[in-house]
Amino acid sequence: MNKTEERVKTPVICFDNVSKSYGDKQVLGQFHLSVRKGEFLTVIGPSGCGKTTMLKMINGLTEPDSGSVWVRGVDVAHTDKIALRRDIGYVIQYVGLFPHMTVRQNIAYVPTLLNKKNKQRTARAVEHLVSCMELDAGLLERYPSELSGGQQQRVGIARALAAGADILLLDEPLGAVDGVTRRKLQEELRRLHKELGITAVFITHDFHEALTLGTRVVVMNEGTIVQDGAPKEIVEKPGSAFVSSLVEQMKAGYKFG
Ligand SMILES: Nc1ncnc2c1ncn2[C@@H]1O[C@H](COP(=O)(O)OP(=O)(O)OP(=O)(O)O)[C@@H](O)[C@H]1O
Ligand SMILES: [Mg+2]
Repeated sequence: MNKTEERVKTPVICFDNVSKSYGDKQVLGQFHLSVRKGEFLTVIGPSGCGKTTMLKMINGLTEPDSGSVWVRGVDVAHTDKIALRRDIGYVIQYVGLFPHMTVRQNIAYVPTLLNKKNKQRTARAVEHLVSCMELDAGLLERYPSELSGGQQQRVGIARALAAGADILLLDEPLGAVDGVTRRKLQEELRRLHKELGITAVFITHDFHEALTLGTRVVVMNEGTIVQDGAPKEIVEKPGSAFVSSLVEQMKAGYKFG
């Protein structure tokens, strides 16, 4: 394989026969998934089907009982989890910003750790992300409690990108954001994905969001993948009654979950 082939063919994230149970409840069973560089993978499925469990295995917050998860060609089980998490952006529904730090300090948190000697570089990175996320510079000195939910979510995404991560994991990041702001943030995420060429795994309960944001959509149910394909393919050729019902519900304006 030449370099280009290797980049295209070697998955950035790979689940190889992963299973996970809590007590006697199996949450993931013989789970296989490969995500290639630059994909925007959206994941949808009913509450409790294992989406968050799957996502947290990518940054080592949860470990498989059997099978393995590979990130950039390295088995997560045998890697330094702290270093791994520093290299992977992670955005969750209720952001988890550091409440005692200003917006600027939140976004600069990881770059400050990484560029101890080059404060200017960190300052430049923060300014750039603030403008990318269309955050008003006047918000930089505020604390998270002084921001709206949508603004906090923008700061969360900026913070996740600030360390220069090329993988972004998003667990229902827009779940608590109202309709208009949500659509704006979707637009910004799409643009950022294009501009930065990052690989994104995005969990949502909103099938329409999954179809419009994803370059590829994974539908999960009860710990397995029931369909995996391009958005158009999922809508035009649902592979099961389960996926058909999702498509019908979406057409009727119903939000999943
Ligand atoms: N630490 C844990 N201990 C015990 N059970 C857990 C733990 N984490 C998750 N579970 C269980 O595993 C199952 C899958 O949880 P997970 O969070 O992956 O679901 P999900 O698909 O993300 O659901 P939701 O859409 O509601 O966020 C659920 O039944 C949940 O209760
Ligand atoms: Mg979840």
